[in-house]
Amino acid sequence: MALFNILKKEDSTPPQPSDRPVPQHIAVIMDGNGRWAKKRGLPRTAGHKVGAETFRTIATYCKNIGVKYFTVYAFSTENWKRPEEEVSTLMNLFRRYLKEAIDTMAKDEIAVQVIGDLSVLAPDIRELVARCNAEAQKRPEFSVATLCINYGGRDEIKNAVRAIAQEVQAGQLKPEDITEDTISQHLYTAHMPDPDFIIRPSGEIRTSNFLLWQSAYAEYYFTDVLWPDFKPADMDAAIDEFNRRNRRFGGV
Ligand code: IPE
Ligand code: IPE
Ligand code: MG
Repeated sequence: MALFNILKKEDSTPPQPSDRPVPQHIAVIMDGNGRWAKKRGLPRTAGHKVGAETFRTIATYCKNIGVKYFTVYAFSTENWKRPEEEVSTLMNLFRRYLKEAIDTMAKDEIAVQVIGDLSVLAPDIRELVARCNAEAQKRPEFSVATLCINYGGRDEIKNAVRAIAQEVQAGQLKPEDITEDTISQHLYTAHMPDPDFIIRPSGEIRTSNFLLWQSAYAEYYFTDVLWPDFKPADMDAAIDEFNRRNRRFGGV
């Protein structure tokens, strides 16, 4: 029994940061919460609650191993199609985590920010997002954890095109001066580097409208692990795989 306890204790010790190189920007499509709950005979909302805890654990782990940017897909522009109860559970989770992030940001040394089309969110959530983003902006030295809420890659590009068109119409920009950088600078991620590595748990092999422009040269990693089960060791395995990839960016 004593031996069992020792083993169990060692087992639950989180892996320690190692010397392995890490990507500068890791993004995750947090998927599989519903199936995780279904497997256990629980409502889908239970999966979202555990998935939110996983976000906290993995964001902290990424910060500890030196990842500067950790970005997660938390709610897509298409997720409004889900049952009202599920959407409202997710919104309540955002409320809780944003409040907590505002209070603990300085202690945790993680700048938590939100991107997406926030205009349609409830006013109290918008207010929390504004406070959270303002706190994050004060701390450029911290690692950054970005929650994508009501985010859609096509919606983001459409908004950028609109903004650029308005600048052209106002005579502030000439069409021939529009570069790839102009487009990047009009996306929600204007202040961030592109993701180096995009992880999708849950066995689905698609992007589901995530970071379409920014992912042009990202490395993708797909795993059958469901997001609520995703552990620091799974992140280590993913990063090891990233480190074995040969990124050529079109060169030789
Ligand atoms: C991801 O888990 C969370 C959100 C999309 C908000 P899902 O809820 O999509 O879980 P599955 O894919 O149904 O298992
Ligand atoms: C993608 O997951 C969106 C988020 C993780 C927030 P979905 O579960 O919505 O994607 P599909 O429907 O399987 O493509
Ligand atoms: Mg899903």
